[in-house]
Amino acid sequence: MPKLKPSKKEEESTITDRNHAIGLLDSGVGGLTVAKEIFRQLPGERIVYFGDTARMPYGPRPHAEVRGFGRQIIRFLETQDVKLVIVACNSATAAGLPHYQAEFDLPIIGVIEPGVRAALKHTRTGRVGVIGTTGTIASGAYERSIRAINPEVTVFSLACPLFVLIVENDLVDTPEALRVAEEYLNPLREARVDVLILGCTHYPLMSHVLARVMGPEVKLISSAEETAREAEEVLRRLKLNQEEAKPANRHRYFVSGSPGPFESIGRKLLCRPVEAYQVILP
Ligand code: DGL
Repeated sequence: MPKLKPSKKEEESTITDRNHAIGLLDSGVGGLTVAKEIFRQLPGERIVYFGDTARMPYGPRPHAEVRGFGRQIIRFLETQDVKLVIVACNSATAAGLPHYQAEFDLPIIGVIEPGVRAALKHTRTGRVGVIGTTGTIASGAYERSIRAINPEVTVFSLACPLFVLIVENDLVDTPEALRVAEEYLNPLREARVDVLILGCTHYPLMSHVLARVMGPEVKLISSAEETAREAEEVLRRLKLNQEEAKPANRHRYFVSGSPGPFESIGRKLLCRPVEAYQVILP
């Protein structure tokens, strides 16, 4: 497994204040699965989260458009004093991570490589399934990233566009969600994958449904854990990590749409109050 190397931008980063926050972005509630893992692994850190709920879903949109949204949100996060940005969205990572890294004076990490690293640690048979949005799957970013580490692995990728809408509309525990999951995942069951990468940060929110369909022999991989680990490593390298646990109410959540549905799903997932503010991006 390759060791993480500091990126050029990291070496150039001029941010020196440990008290700055970690910025996270997603099209909606999906990135909260990464936020949850940040809270667990890095309890001293404060987050500023942006959910672009007014323009969700990103998956069906052209990459250039999603990249534009990503830039706009990172610009907003910069105004909130962040020391690291996590693009907690596979579609936005696939659409433009190297662009953001080249354009901003901030360390920026995505969720695809961490997910791949986690999956390759677990596969025994070398048959790896990847599910994601239409944009992520069409980009081929997972295949490239997997092959760069292990060209022997066979990758089976599948777009599951309805899952994001099921999660955002709080329909995870309905018979319809189970039916859609069964229909989507059937080819991956037939392909006998032994790990399944949840290549969309919304999908861990319905992992119990996906696990029921795939069965106990298939390990589901969320990139959240490995992404939080990478964030910790980057901050430590830059001497910007904050170790002392702090009260939970310092976190900030922003959305481009109406705050209500985001707050209610967020509260359920994070088991803590989530108060979101609506921001109209220029
Ligand atoms: N959570 C996102 C992802 O990881 C975006 C899903 C969407 O908006 O389509 O891809």
